[in-house]
Amino acid sequence: MQQRTSSTREIPNTDSIPQHIAIIMDGNGRWARNRFMPRVAGHRQGVETVRGVIKACIERNISYLTVFAFSSENWRRPSDEISLLMQLFANALEQEVTKLHENGICFKVIGDVSKFDSGIVQAIQKGEQLTAKNTRLVFTVAANYGGRWDIMQAFRKMMIQSNELSLKSLNFEEENLAQYLALSYAPEPDLFIRTGGECRISNFLLWQLAYTELYFTDTLWPDFNEHELDRAIQSYQKRERRFGRTSEQLQVAMPSEG
Ligand code: IPE
Ligand code: IPE
Ligand code: MG
Repeated sequence: MQQRTSSTREIPNTDSIPQHIAIIMDGNGRWARNRFMPRVAGHRQGVETVRGVIKACIERNISYLTVFAFSSENWRRPSDEISLLMQLFANALEQEVTKLHENGICFKVIGDVSKFDSGIVQAIQKGEQLTAKNTRLVFTVAANYGGRWDIMQAFRKMMIQSNELSLKSLNFEEENLAQYLALSYAPEPDLFIRTGGECRISNFLLWQLAYTELYFTDTLWPDFNEHELDRAIQSYQKRERRFGRTSEQLQVAMPSEG
């Protein structure tokens, strides 16, 4: 398995265009409520936004896009909203996967999918297999995902795989665990965006966001578009990613022109 740079162990190569963007798509319910519409209308419009953001990411040469669609805590919602969300997910899988494939996009799902209906699980597997070799954009949907679940499932896998020797010495490094995390195929996100005005992580990628630049906007997800994405990228470009070093150290390494 390919080993990805861990931002806490090595300073990653970074570019002015984020290689990986992770998004908490929040605010669908409020968008609908503002229009006196049922919450599901907001979720429906949210799917349209995802389509636009995928296109915008491709146009901007972003290699990885990861979106939070359903958290492990979202089961706490009213059952009718959960059923409608599942229906919407099933429909989107049915309608979008072929289009993703035609556009050279690799589709992946992270999260505990065993909790979904078998029809959804099969559609996910089919979609992942069909698009596995595509390289234009890796589009990951986090569904029944939780950051703590991810660390726990990785820990469990690591313990199962570890031989008796390493168990005896308990000689584990970050990398031993990282390879079992659900998103181990992708570099750590450079830019995190949360729409909808809340300034929290809500149990999204807890491990992977260690050195990610965070961007919060009040824009509700159904209203998010390529201009909003550019605003987030512009904010990212103004950040100084120090990874623990001082600003002076960075200036010695990359003296600014003029
Ligand atoms: C995000 O929008 C979508 C999901 C969590 C599935 P919300 O449904 O949380 O919308 P708000 O936060 O209530 O406006
Ligand atoms: C986070 O949104 C999860 C997703 C967008 C899928 P929530 O709306 O569920 O987050 P909280 O509960 O307000 O933190
Ligand atoms: Mg919300």
